[in-house]
Amino acid sequence: MSYQENLNLQHHEPSFNGEPNRRKVLKKGLLSTGFLFAGSRPAFAVPSGNELPVPATWDGEPLVVDETNRQIWPGYTTACLTVNGSFPAPIIRLNQGDLFSAQIINRLNSQAVVLHWHGLLAPSAYDGHPRQVVSPGQSYQVSFPVHQEPSTCWYHSHSHGLTGEHVYKGLAGFFIIDNPERDAALGLPTGTRDVPLMIRDWKSNTTRSLSYAPSNFEHMWGYLGDTVLVNGTPDAWMSVDQGLWRFRLLNGSNARVYRLAFSDNRPMTIIGSDGGLTGEKTSVTSFDLGPGQRAEILVSFANLGYRQSTFLKSLAFTEGRPGGGGGGMGGGGGGPAGPRQGDALDIMEFYVGTTGGDQTTPQELPAPPLPKPELSRRTRSFAMNVTNGNHTINGLTYSLSRNDFTAPAGEVEIWQFQNQNGMHHPMHCHGAFFRVLTRNGSSNIKPVDHGLRDTVLVYPNETVRVAIAFGNRGGEYLMHCHNLEHEHNMMSNFTVSATETPELEIEKINGEVVVSWPSNLGGWQLERSTDLENWAPVDGQLTIVGSQLQYHEATAEEEAHFRLRIV
Ligand code: C2O
Ligand code: CU
Ligand code: CU
Repeated sequence: MSYQENLNLQHHEPSFNGEPNRRKVLKKGLLSTGFLFAGSRPAFAVPSGNELPVPATWDGEPLVVDETNRQIWPGYTTACLTVNGSFPAPIIRLNQGDLFSAQIINRLNSQAVVLHWHGLLAPSAYDGHPRQVVSPGQSYQVSFPVHQEPSTCWYHSHSHGLTGEHVYKGLAGFFIIDNPERDAALGLPTGTRDVPLMIRDWKSNTTRSLSYAPSNFEHMWGYLGDTVLVNGTPDAWMSVDQGLWRFRLLNGSNARVYRLAFSDNRPMTIIGSDGGLTGEKTSVTSFDLGPGQRAEILVSFANLGYRQSTFLKSLAFTEGRPGGGGGGMGGGGGGPAGPRQGDALDIMEFYVGTTGGDQTTPQELPAPPLPKPELSRRTRSFAMNVTNGNHTINGLTYSLSRNDFTAPAGEVEIWQFQNQNGMHHPMHCHGAFFRVLTRNGSSNIKPVDHGLRDTVLVYPNETVRVAIAFGNRGGEYLMHCHNLEHEHNMMSNFTVSATETPELEIEKINGEVVVSWPSNLGGWQLERSTDLENWAPVDGQLTIVGSQLQYHEATAEEEAHFRLRIV
């Protein structure tokens, strides 16, 4: 048993009744018996709670979706939904320009599953639309080149009607697109100083189970927990030095909005949002992160003494609370016990375990290519409300088969999200990024709204306008609220109309047929035929060579023909 596990088992006794953790009480317990654990550090100085884990990094093996027992709370076993046994799911980390190729295997007992790559500009066929689910025992393959800004994305289940339950139980992980040379050249903290933090809440019932059973009230407002898990761990702490750190924050909660701040009001420099670096380095002391959103921040602990701590927390706020303008939606009480939306919560502790540390501050950071509103061809409005007791967009609940609108590939549009009720709606779009233009008509927007976003937090009764740009990928995508209790109803299918077929280049080199096409055009499936009538997708591995995607095949007797089909 490691030092840390030992400490946890001794001091996290199950005195719990759905009440948030009492850090001070636990620390007192530790003081009285600290000598038992004398290790390399004096025990009195070590935070109580659990050392922050970082989920394993995916190494290319199949992504197996399964039910696994894990220890989330020391001394308890919790049935989780896992990818490759990991809670949360393993971190997929690829370099910009890599080919993402994975087999997904569903080993759940009875539920269908599909994984969606949130923030990735994936071809429609691999995007994880709920119609693409596979049954238990089945598997499927995805393969597409990752051509977009280095960024902090994530992936999660998107099974229709089950997304909330699946994500709550653990089917979610980081998907980080890297460019280590660029980051090193910019002077950004890298390696162990670049820390992904998935923040989510859970209802820590007496058996520490991940049970997902929203009441009617919670179906309306969202399923909120009483305890925050960071990278799957309650009461998390990490040891830092006094240098500059980069944190990649992901709000992986079903419904909770966090107003992030440090307990000592320490400044955080926002450098990135959903779609990568914003091109700015803006110092703030707090900002909001809605479900599905990401933010990258730089934090220095230079002024924090050896063995001192600061806490990342969520500050109290009043927007989007039941009763605060939520009339007619089950508002004004009747909610479950425990912290409500907007109640203050502790998230995790940063403890200076080492003095000194790298203080290098980064260069000027590159700005992403933002959609240009002056090029927009049309404006679409989406009104979010409750109709006949269900969350709707423009009065409609989601239908798996209905296409709600078609947007031409390559164009820019203005989307206007009109929140007509008293809840937050974090509105998310697949397959495209947008730029926040105005909130209630004001273009004076906060730093965390800058850069490329795929999810915008629309506050109660607010109207947000964004400029959205569709790339060259045709096909069907989704737009929805990322409050996962709203998602299955408050969602639309839309189609990006196809673009021209790219030119195929076919060469014979050293007894091989080499087929290539521009790799920046996602969404095309290479097909092969020997009779020009029957076409089948090629099953060989594709490689990326320069700006081309290539397929290699040994020359056979029979001549093969190739074509690209949009997927
Ligand atoms: Cu993160 Cu359609 O979802
Ligand atoms: Cu998404
Ligand atoms: Cu919503």
